[in-house]
Amino acid sequence: MKIFLLFSLIAVSFGYELNKTYAGDTFLDGFYFFHQKDPNHGTVQYVDAEIARILGLTTVVNGKVKISVDSTNAYPDDGRPSVRIHSHDRYNDGLFIFDIDHMPVGPGTWPAFWFCGDSWPANGEIDVLEGIYGKTENNQALHTTDNCTMPLDASIFKGHWTKGPQGKITNDCYVNAPGQGGSGCSITSENGLFGIPFNAAGGGVFAFEWIRESSMKIWIFKRGNPNPDNWGKPEAYYTIGPLCPANHFNDHEIIINCNLCGDWAGGAYPGGWDACNEIVRNNPAAFNETYWLINSLKYYSL
Ligand SMILES: *[C@@H]1O[C@H](CO)[C@@H](O)[C@H](O)[C@H]1NC(C)=O
Ligand SMILES: *[C@@H]1O[C@H](CO)[C@@H](O)[C@H](O)[C@H]1NC(C)=O
Ligand SMILES: *[C@@H]1O[C@H](CO)[C@@H](O)[C@H](O)[C@H]1NC(C)=O
Repeated sequence: MKIFLLFSLIAVSFGYELNKTYAGDTFLDGFYFFHQKDPNHGTVQYVDAEIARILGLTTVVNGKVKISVDSTNAYPDDGRPSVRIHSHDRYNDGLFIFDIDHMPVGPGTWPAFWFCGDSWPANGEIDVLEGIYGKTENNQALHTTDNCTMPLDASIFKGHWTKGPQGKITNDCYVNAPGQGGSGCSITSENGLFGIPFNAAGGGVFAFEWIRESSMKIWIFKRGNPNPDNWGKPEAYYTIGPLCPANHFNDHEIIINCNLCGDWAGGAYPGGWDACNEIVRNNPAAFNETYWLINSLKYYSL
């Protein structure tokens, strides 16, 4: 709570005002449920609001929003039920504070808190929180059409440029940039800010500041060691300007989901995609920690 007040004070000192709070019993009112086939080939069934409620995947516990993957049933012939929600409101800038006690972990998991426009990649994608099973670093990324590159200077942020398949630094946000394996412009955070160590610290805060014509910055504070008086360098800093004009990112919905296996988490799973499918389909108990526990998501506007 104290941390949170300080965040608010700092936000105000930069001229931001609290515009919208997603929290508690009304959290889900701000979102719709995506329940189509997973575009990333996951072993997952994204369910609608009613099925999510019946399966107990969306609950409010002591005022905190809990969004889970089914950890009760086996699905030998299908994907495991999970939730993917998109905000009704669309955003083009602002300061977003995602305060969570827990993010989904477990075999084959691929959780994300991200922003995306229509007609991908024409209106862009911004991945604020993303990673897979076993990772302890957060993977920030932008995905765009051609002509959106980042200055190589990595001294302006705490993370580091993710290396592509041939060791190439991935500073080109274009989804088909050569030598990047579809990574977009991808920044790996410091260690400990994703997955099990993040949860063990009691969670924390992902702060995303989107200043339309100049920058996108992502800070991550674990609950145990926030230093809100001095936000310092962000984990990720993307420069918007002549080399990557602002019009690559338009009318974004906020998306929260937990995929299972699929293009990233399936291929990277120990034993491969088949082993991933096997545990996801047949071992519900392995997913008892596969849930978000969300204190709030706050949007500040200028
Ligand atoms: C809240 O944000 C919306 C969308 O960014 C903006 O149009 C509106 O003016 C803001 N409201 C206030 C009270 O700042
Ligand atoms: C990117 O820039 C090149 C060179 O200016 C141009 O030919 C191309 O049409 C641009 N691509 C897009 C998607 O705007
Ligand atoms: C999940 O199961 C593991 C192994 O049985 C157990 O150690 C852990 O406490 C369980 N977590 C929850 C949230 O029930």
